[in-house]
Amino acid sequence: MNAADHVVPRSPNIHGWPESFEHLESVVQQRRTSLLIDTTVPVDPEIVTRLCSLITWAPNHKRTWPWQVAVFTGDSRARLGAALADDQADDGETDQARIDKTRRKYGRSTVCIVVGSARADTDERTGENRDAVAAGIQNLLLGATTLGLASFWSSPPSRRGRRTLSLCGFPDTSELVAVIYLGWPNGSVEVPERPNLSINTFG
Ligand SMILES: Cc1cc2nc3c(=O)[nH]c(=O)nc-3n(C[C@H](O)[C@H](O)[C@H](O)COP(=O)(O)O)c2cc1C
Repeated sequence: MNAADHVVPRSPNIHGWPESFEHLESVVQQRRTSLLIDTTVPVDPEIVTRLCSLITWAPNHKRTWPWQVAVFTGDSRARLGAALADDQADDGETDQARIDKTRRKYGRSTVCIVVGSARADTDERTGENRDAVAAGIQNLLLGATTLGLASFWSSPPSRRGRRTLSLCGFPDTSELVAVIYLGWPNGSVEVPERPNLSINTFG
């Protein structure tokens, strides 16, 4: 189905909220940051590709299409950890335990998806690129939730490390936004409650 084929009702009617909204709301609320992943169960590469494609449907000022994606499974997860650990050390990290953890930690997930953001011609646009990439990542996470996959947005230990950017095949001017852990769950995590939102409303 194409995006254009899906007709979304324009407003809730007197019978209540559209099912599509109820469903979306429930998926948004169910998405959890979870590393409870069974690494013995592979994730179909087609699923990974389709989830990554959701990133491209994020809003994007000036249509710069700034997202860059690299997928690591199997032995390549250790290469990702090694590149990030070496870059982290180059960035000035002196705590060897932290560097060693970086080297090992990507093996905790079946799939690691590195998402980068392209640099633009101004700092403002570079920031907007990153905003768009972040929105795209949420699309991916929500898609994973609908499939029952566990997902986890982790901050890259180095954001501009040359080894990791090169390993990912990204330009050396890019910024890493996330390393997403993805896999089939072997447990569930607690739900961190959200504080009530205070909305300043003006009429
Ligand atoms: C930009 C960003 C970076 C994050 N980096 C990390 C991280 O490095 N380590 C971590 O434990 N969680 C990280 N998280 C996940 C948050 O800890 C998590 O979203 C928060 O605890 C709320 O839990 P929930 O996602 O299950 O609602 C990150 C989330 C975002 C949006």
